[in-house]
Amino acid sequence: MMFLPADLLLRHSVVMCLLLHSLVLMTFCFHHAATSCSKSCYCTESDGGGKTVRCSNLQLTEIPQDFPNDTRHVFLDFNLFTTVPANAFAGLPHLVELDLSHNELSQLEPGAFRGLGSSLQFLDLSSNKLVNFNSEAFEGLRARANLTNNPWHCDCNMQIALPRVDLEPASLAGIVCQTSDPEEIRVKGLAFLLAPDIDLCVVMKRTTDVVMLVVMFGWFTMVISYLVYYVRANQEDARRHLEYLKSLPSKQGKSEESSTISTVV
Ligand SMILES: *[C@@H]1O[C@H](CO)[C@@H](O)[C@H](O)[C@H]1NC(C)=O
Ligand SMILES: *[C@@H]1O[C@H](CO)[C@@H](O)[C@H](O)[C@H]1NC(C)=O
Repeated sequence: MMFLPADLLLRHSVVMCLLLHSLVLMTFCFHHAATSCSKSCYCTESDGGGKTVRCSNLQLTEIPQDFPNDTRHVFLDFNLFTTVPANAFAGLPHLVELDLSHNELSQLEPGAFRGLGSSLQFLDLSSNKLVNFNSEAFEGLRARANLTNNPWHCDCNMQIALPRVDLEPASLAGIVCQTSDPEEIRVKGLAFLLAPDIDLCVVMKRTTDVVMLVVMFGWFTMVISYLVYYVRANQEDARRHLEYLKSLPSKQGKSEESSTISTVV
């Protein structure tokens, strides 16, 4: 009868000890996970070294800024991002793949992918709300980008911007025009780059032509009016001068003329 409590106590303490031990281990593990990877995402080691961070479908509205600096793959698809701010991934010099597909992205700020130029190979921006193509967002990038499934607005600005990017050329074939300016050029539904003959800057050129014409006409009018004014003013002068000359005795005039000629010679 006296054994039982002691035995129980012993067993109890062993269990307690084990529990405590695992608790300590668990806290250590969680602590480790929290410091070595992002708060809101799941991290694994990539096959080729570095880390893979998965933040898919987490209702995120802002791009996390706490990824480890040896991250190689980031999956941020199916979230609620509306914009990619400048330098959003600047601390990740080894990033190879970035998936931002299936978000609400309508804007990429200039320098959004700054710092990824030498490493990034795949950039997925498909199924977003991108309307205007901002070449400054892609500065330095040579990645293959998926730009499909966005409501692209094709206009002169886009035509000017596309040749300025270094993205893998096949990427740009994913830009399918949903709207266009001018509308009558009918690029709607076309892959923009697959229609190389279209010139969306034609209207802009026409407007600049008209502006140039108006400006030139203005200048021309000013020059003509000045000339007319000048001639009239001088006519008055010339007339007065002529009258003055006529009023002089004609011989004196002739001798003066010959004397000036002789001095010139
Ligand atoms: C990551 O940052 C740490 C310091 O915070 C540095 O020692 C390490 O070299 C960096 N690793 C890479 C891959 O850049
Ligand atoms: C681009 O993304 C779309 C959907 O998001 C997908 O169906 C397509 O296969 C992707 N294209 C490439 C070349 O990866």
